[in-house]
Amino acid sequence: MLRLTLLKAAQSQRVRRLVTSAPGSRSLVGRFVVGETLEEAVQATCGLVGEAFAVTLDHLGEDTLDEAQAAATRDTYVALLDRLGELGLAAQTEVSLKLSTVGQALPHDGHRIALDNARTVCAAAQRAGTTVTIDMEDHTTVDSTLAIVGELRDDFPWTGAVLQSCLRRTEADCRDLAHAASRVRLVKGAYAESASVAYPAKADVDLAYVRCLKILMAGEDYPMVASHDPRMVEIAGALAKQYGRAPGSYEYQMLHGIRASEQRRLVATGERVRVYVPYGQDWYGYFMRRLAERPANVGFFLRSIVSR
Ligand code: FDA
Repeated sequence: MLRLTLLKAAQSQRVRRLVTSAPGSRSLVGRFVVGETLEEAVQATCGLVGEAFAVTLDHLGEDTLDEAQAAATRDTYVALLDRLGELGLAAQTEVSLKLSTVGQALPHDGHRIALDNARTVCAAAQRAGTTVTIDMEDHTTVDSTLAIVGELRDDFPWTGAVLQSCLRRTEADCRDLAHAASRVRLVKGAYAESASVAYPAKADVDLAYVRCLKILMAGEDYPMVASHDPRMVEIAGALAKQYGRAPGSYEYQMLHGIRASEQRRLVATGERVRVYVPYGQDWYGYFMRRLAERPANVGFFLRSIVSR
């Protein structure tokens, strides 16, 4: 219930104004978001790469209905990728891109505009020597997003896809994407969805995650196990052994600021671990989804406001 309320609030302009102006917000946001500028993102990346992590950088934002804004976001990614190339960080650092930030939600021609912008970002990644993973948003965008990933893969076969185990369709999508050279990030799903398309009970989302993991680990793809759930991490390790996968033929991914000690433990055992590092000014939607994932974060957030 609290999760759904927070996810609905993530769409509300009124709550956005309240949360972004609350004095206690910044300190908790700082746990999840490394900063607002490219240089802050680069600095955080250097630190993580120095600790043997791989990184995926996300320039925060969502759902633009303005074509000029979509083009500006595309250019921000291109500048970021150029900088990663210059600094020699591209081998360990890719980027994550939300198609809604580059035009997918535009009422006219959104699919094509998002594809064109994403293509420009992929070309910049190719020049820099790295890759792009296309984040997945709510279920209404899945067909368009997977179609765009498919088109991008014609020119940039390394383009990563994200699948959400909460959706009833996802096992079938995993089977479609479990082919050679296909990079697939498996997540549980961070959006409010109805029971007609998604499993309402968390236990069913978890079981579906395991079924999807089995398909991806058994396939010829490159699975990216994106979860902080200790059971999923353990099961992924067991499945990798069962299917004869060596470390490096799959990877773990976790969000910046969540279970950092587990991230370090996995690296110390020789696993490849990628940290998802968000930066930018438009942190509201991302922050609310992180609050929704863990009620304890909400208590901490409210206490930090009240104590001021
Ligand atoms: P679960 O929610 O069961 O959490 C397991 C444990 O992890 C918790 O008990 C707690 O200890 C810890 N934890 C989890 N979330 C926490 C939080 N916010 N604060 C503190 N502790 C927390 N989703 C999506 O829809 N599209 C996408 O493209 C992506 N991309 C993505 C990339 C990466 C690298 C990750 C790790 C996750 C995503 N997600 C995502 C988010 C994902 O769908 C999901 O909402 C979160 O990962 C939480 O689910 P878990 O699998 O971690 O398990």
